[in-house]
Amino acid sequence: MMSIDVRNGDHLPATISLDLEVQRILGLPPKMFVNGARTETRRGATLDVINPSTGEALWRAAEADRDDVDVAVRSARAAADLGVWTVRMSPSDRQRCLWRLGDLIAREARVFGQLDALDCGRPVSRVELGDVPASAEHFAYYAGWATKLNGRTFPADTRGMHVYSVREPVGVVGLITPWNYPLLMAAWKLAPALAAGNCVVLKPAEQTPLSALYLAELAIEAGIPEGVFNVVTGIGAVAGAALVEHPAVDKIGFTGSVDVARSIVRASAVDLKRVSLELGGKSPNIVFADADLDLALEGSLWATMGNSGQSCTAGSRLYVQEGIYEEFVQALVVRASSLTVGAGLASEACDLGPLITDRQMTRVLGWIDSAKSDGATVVCGGQRMAGENAQGFYVEPTVITDVTDDLDVVKEEIFGPVMAVMPFRDCDEVIERANNSRFGLAAGVWSNDLSTVHEVAGRIRAGTIWVNTWGLTSPAVPFGGMKQSGKGREMGEDALDLYTETKSIWMGWQNPSK
Ligand code: NAI
Ligand code: MG
Repeated sequence: MMSIDVRNGDHLPATISLDLEVQRILGLPPKMFVNGARTETRRGATLDVINPSTGEALWRAAEADRDDVDVAVRSARAAADLGVWTVRMSPSDRQRCLWRLGDLIAREARVFGQLDALDCGRPVSRVELGDVPASAEHFAYYAGWATKLNGRTFPADTRGMHVYSVREPVGVVGLITPWNYPLLMAAWKLAPALAAGNCVVLKPAEQTPLSALYLAELAIEAGIPEGVFNVVTGIGAVAGAALVEHPAVDKIGFTGSVDVARSIVRASAVDLKRVSLELGGKSPNIVFADADLDLALEGSLWATMGNSGQSCTAGSRLYVQEGIYEEFVQALVVRASSLTVGAGLASEACDLGPLITDRQMTRVLGWIDSAKSDGATVVCGGQRMAGENAQGFYVEPTVITDVTDDLDVVKEEIFGPVMAVMPFRDCDEVIERANNSRFGLAAGVWSNDLSTVHEVAGRIRAGTIWVNTWGLTSPAVPFGGMKQSGKGREMGEDALDLYTETKSIWMGWQNPSK
């Protein structure tokens, strides 16, 4: 099946025209990327990729099964065993390849922008000006680490023994990524995995395969040898599970839901495969009365609504101090209702796009309805969008008040543009309520009082605390979750621990004159 032209359909608002390279990509037959080339699956099964902005089929992806995953893993295993990326290339060769790949990502910003906007509905400008440079920066940062993975020496014995360690790649790494920031989520894992010398099989989310396949093409252009970076497209329960269960895969890096994380950990018990997890959250965001309220308002709005709430760090539990609560909620409602929502490729850039699937939209609307029947007040939004957005999976930016801490809308990750706002009295109270969660990914605190800020930052159990800001990440800064928000830290030097094994070597020697 060829691509469906999504431009200027009768019932659709105007969208920007597709780049020639994007048109070429949408014309490609459904294949995986194995051993340096687009490769057919054995049985030729395909799955429809739906454009969430329009609800229409956009492309057909190859649907890899267990045998296809095996082919991809063998390709990575062979590359690892032959040392094409380690023994046959020097650390500085790897550094150059990764640096070039970062440059190529930046060069193809327009293409990646359109591919991810089509696949996941994220506004094209946010991909092009946000995710793309961030992804390029990841490769640039980890390129540098390829030449800096030093071992250590140890004073294990004063004479007659020289003891040192080296850091080796784990081997073959399976990476399973989500659909909310398709390119960036792949970059977060790929860059450190490749810098450390691993060979990789990446399984992007079934909803968003396009940018991962394109990245694999660019990796070849960047000089990364065939077989080092493979991509299998397919559904999680089949291709993802096959990757997790494959005995030749040494490690799984996963970002996604807690339920799937549990199944991965369970499956990893068989061969005690290494697993790192970046999962969801229900991040508390706390606004004290002494904060810069304009800054706090804008930050809190985007903390939850950004990417239509489809962020692991969404600050969807908003605590506002008594005294400013009523006024703050009113201002939030004004801002939330003024957000523009539309197609990922809308010609007039929108603030937000649709949700990823019909199913996610239905789930999100279900959370809103359950809040209502629990007695909460929906002060703005709350509905599926109508009018020119009726075809896609759009939910209005929604603010909910009159909630208690035990409601689902306060406890569960919603992954939609929905925030629950609650008043609080003082520091101790709000810290206790913020920590009353099975998640611990991120938290925000808005205050100009140093003591308040330190108290909250010190006592909240979360992997990242943002003070008078929200959502910033950098390749240099560790990121990950406490409690059920994950295991291990991505980014920074910490991520290298996820993709290396330390080997200690004891070397005996004798005094030659004895
Ligand atoms: P998911 O966890 O099912 O999907 C994430 C990735 O895991 C995809 O690549 C998928 O193909 C793969 N996968 C699914 N089942 C698998 C299995 N049995 N074995 C191996 N891999 C498997 O997430 P889904 O269903 O797309 O979204 C459900 C909820 O998960 C969201 O509403 C949100 O709460 C959470 N989520 C959190 C993300 C985050 O950034 N932390 C990203 C995506 C989802
Ligand atoms: Mg799922």
